[in-house]
Amino acid sequence: MAAQVRRKLIAGNWKMNKTIPEGLALVRELKGLVASLPGERVELAVAPPFLSLQAVAKELEGSFVKLAAQNCHWEASGAYTGEVSAPMLKDLGCAYVIVGHSERRQYFGETDETVNKRTRAVVGAGMTPIICVGETLAEREANRTLEVVERQVAGALKGFQAAEVAGFVLAYEPVWAIGTGRTATSAQAQEVHRAIREQLGRLYDRGTAERVLIQYGGSVKPDNAAELLGQPDVDGALVGGASLKAGDFAAIAKGGV
Ligand code: PGA
Repeated sequence: MAAQVRRKLIAGNWKMNKTIPEGLALVRELKGLVASLPGERVELAVAPPFLSLQAVAKELEGSFVKLAAQNCHWEASGAYTGEVSAPMLKDLGCAYVIVGHSERRQYFGETDETVNKRTRAVVGAGMTPIICVGETLAEREANRTLEVVERQVAGALKGFQAAEVAGFVLAYEPVWAIGTGRTATSAQAQEVHRAIREQLGRLYDRGTAERVLIQYGGSVKPDNAAELLGQPDVDGALVGGASLKAGDFAAIAKGGV
């Protein structure tokens, strides 16, 4: 049976950048630059800070660029000062929520267990999770990359059925490549992506494993995007720094066509 052709998903994680007017200017420019891309082959999403979601959602009306959030709480509502819930994000028009980004694991106490709870909330609200996994430099140098990534994948997916997981997005983001300008080589990325897909095959089944989108993230730029996205198991990119410039983000998206 021929391998299923997966669409590519290029998502821009703005992190804690851009005021509302700055974010609107960015998406306005972006919409123009990507209007002619074949939407059935490459899907685009932007993940602005929570405060800009509503304004950006309005600006994206009628465009094929989707809206994503950078995080959410696992409860639907309640006394959780400063938090934002999945139903609130769904209500604003979010299609995706990034869960378990390494910056949240590193600075905000995110664990495999809380990633699992947040993923449950995202799915329960009818959105698609983008679940981030990835090893630190010390873990890679100790030859623990696959062990760490597989633990994170298994932890995030605990309790989910194959039919749910088939629609998920995973993002392999080696921590040492994020914001450092140091990208994994396409061979390093492909090796981990393949290992994750094999793990999905063991946890679920081959068909499910073939349907899950696995993005690469970590210093993706216009000049390395096509090479990374050309790998058989790299189904897109989660882009930080380069997503803050419409021209760079659009060029990366073109590398996925
Ligand atoms: P970067 O960030 O592209 O700036 O390295 C990627 C990410 O953190 O998702």
